[in-house]
Amino acid sequence: MRTYLVTGGAGFIGSNYIHYMFKKYGDSIRIINVDKLTYAGNLENLRDVENLPNYSFVRADICDSEAIVNIFEENDIDRVVHFAAESHVDRSIKDPGVFVRTNVLGTLTMLNAARNAWELPDGTYPEDKKFLHVSTDEVYGSLSNPEDYFYETTPYDPHSPYSASKASSDFMVKAFMDTYHFPANITNCSNNYGPYQFPEKLIPLMINNALHGKALPVYGDGKNIRDWLYVEDHCKGIDMVQEKGRLFETYNIGGHNERENIQIVKTIIAQLREALSDEDPRKAAVSEDLIKYVEDRKGHDRRYAIAPDKIKAEIGWYPETCFEEGIKKTIRWYFDHEEWMAHVTSGDYQKYYEDMYANRG
Ligand code: NAD
Ligand code: DAU
Repeated sequence: MRTYLVTGGAGFIGSNYIHYMFKKYGDSIRIINVDKLTYAGNLENLRDVENLPNYSFVRADICDSEAIVNIFEENDIDRVVHFAAESHVDRSIKDPGVFVRTNVLGTLTMLNAARNAWELPDGTYPEDKKFLHVSTDEVYGSLSNPEDYFYETTPYDPHSPYSASKASSDFMVKAFMDTYHFPANITNCSNNYGPYQFPEKLIPLMINNALHGKALPVYGDGKNIRDWLYVEDHCKGIDMVQEKGRLFETYNIGGHNERENIQIVKTIIAQLREALSDEDPRKAAVSEDLIKYVEDRKGHDRRYAIAPDKIKAEIGWYPETCFEEGIKKTIRWYFDHEEWMAHVTSGDYQKYYEDMYANRG
């Protein structure tokens, strides 16, 4: 039975990945989820799997070398899938330090522990041991020419503290591959959306605000472009890279699905109006009148767009869920999980929202 060590599995993509993997492989794999449970980690995301005999959870910080080494000593880990990170750009602009700690030093801790556990005396590694570092397209910076796309060969040009910390972590993984022949891959993915996303990110924040009749804060002119991918397609891509990809390679994952932020917000409003019944008292408030243009994000990248040519050609990956279908499924999921939203937005979320948006105008 193959054993996976998943970091950050209680977060948005990590929890979707764990669901995806159990759905695909059932009891032929074992998953150990290590997560510190920061504000972004939520064990409620894993209710469906928490009692499976082949799933276990360890609450630990990826910067805690002793805790991570223990996991490797106590388990014969075959695969590491490394999601754990501080992931929100706006938070990185307010407080960059924790991004360097978790994203750079935490990644180094994971690499050291895996290398120590896996490296053989002659400097080689057993064939089936693999580390996958989950990264972002933001490391490539911002595209100004509409004809341009991010390729694996695009030079790194990060602008926010978040993307700079992810770029540093990518370079550390590359350094381990080049120096120790460490068996790894890096994936750089575009914006994900779907179930279990914390409502500090554009799509769940807009859904939640609209359903509460609150203003929809659009940064700047609303014309920044992101390339949106349904989260399950990302999870499928990660698994395919680990199973079919060439070791030591980077693969970009994205869906050729570019939209301006304002288009996304208007689509959410339209879809919510369609989904709410006429009797639902929330329906009257859900309209484009809620849109409020607010102060722009500092250093706001204008456009991201992935060219997924390599992963398509080499591995046969392609996004299965088109945006129209994905956004419908996502809205339906948030409708059906109002309790989840109520839980994650209680407590500290109110303070976060106040700090982040009160002075934005
Ligand atoms: P998230 O913020 O929803 O989840 C992060 C998880 O990591 C949380 O469960 C949190 O508790 C955990 N964590 C944070 N610091 C930790 C630490 N020090 N030790 C252990 N656990 C810790 O993030 P996400 O959106 O699911 O992103 C997951 C990964 O994918 C990140 O590496 C991110 O950079 C990358 N990524 C995200 C997107 C996206 O659109 N969300 C796109 C491309 C790449
Ligand atoms: O591209 C991949 C990246 O996508 C990931 O690496 C990050 O972890 C993930 O958070 C995401 O980064 P973005 O900054 O693109 O996502 P966010 O949802 O924060 O914002 C999307 C766009 O919407 C961005 O242009 C800023 C804008 N925005 C965001 C919020 C939260 C608004 O206009 N208003 C908002 O309230």
